[in-house]
Amino acid sequence: MPSKPTWLIANWKMNGSADDARAFAHAVNAALAPVPANLNAVFCPPFPLIASAAAALPHNARLQLGAQNCHAAASGAHTGEVSAGMAAAAGAKYVIVGHSERRALGETDADVLAKAQAAVSAGLKPIICIGESHEEYKAKRTAEVIKRQTAGLAALAAGTYLIAYEPIWAIGSGLTPETAEISAAHSQIKTVLGSSASVLYGGSVQPGNTQQILALPEVAGALIGGASLKIESMVAMINTAAKL
Ligand code: PGA
Repeated sequence: MPSKPTWLIANWKMNGSADDARAFAHAVNAALAPVPANLNAVFCPPFPLIASAAAALPHNARLQLGAQNCHAAASGAHTGEVSAGMAAAAGAKYVIVGHSERRALGETDADVLAKAQAAVSAGLKPIICIGESHEEYKAKRTAEVIKRQTAGLAALAAGTYLIAYEPIWAIGSGLTPETAEISAAHSQIKTVLGSSASVLYGGSVQPGNTQQILALPEVAGALIGGASLKIESMVAMINTAAKL
């Protein structure tokens, strides 16, 4: 059983059909039945598939659902946007905010904080993504980026959110930082936000490196993109985490 609460978050990005989401939800929830309760698995499909996945899950499901983004406002003239309350009504308990693929569209640290606050108000746990670009990594500016991206987050109440440290250059690239670099980044984040902050790692997590990454004492789980699209690999990572 994991020695601390651990989260495995499946981020499907803009992939999958309603049938895929139902099949994934059903199979992954079944795989969670024998797994210790302090291992939390969360499925974040595209917005329209949240309700499909919810319909495939029993009332007391172990697998929880999340959205990949929300708007900071509760409602209003925001064409194409979805509020945290709407995601919650569809069945979400979590929402990813500030993913680098959204920051690349212009989201600022202030926008990300506002989204996280809206999520908490709507009863969702935000998964707040931070992390440096490859250029910043090469220039040894990772600590400076983390400092800037976490500065405003102290406004959030402890325990209401998760952080996902995702170096942008590790996302979808098959590359990961050295484990010592992951530990250093997580330790820095905990120094700013408190030692009880839950900090996940994301970026090219797959069955072959899950054990090595999750075994780091500073790491409270993983945000998984590509490797979460296949039921077998998600179940393999859950089974690895369950044994830690
Ligand atoms: P990846 O994506 O696992 O495909 O690298 C992670 C993410 O973007 O959250």
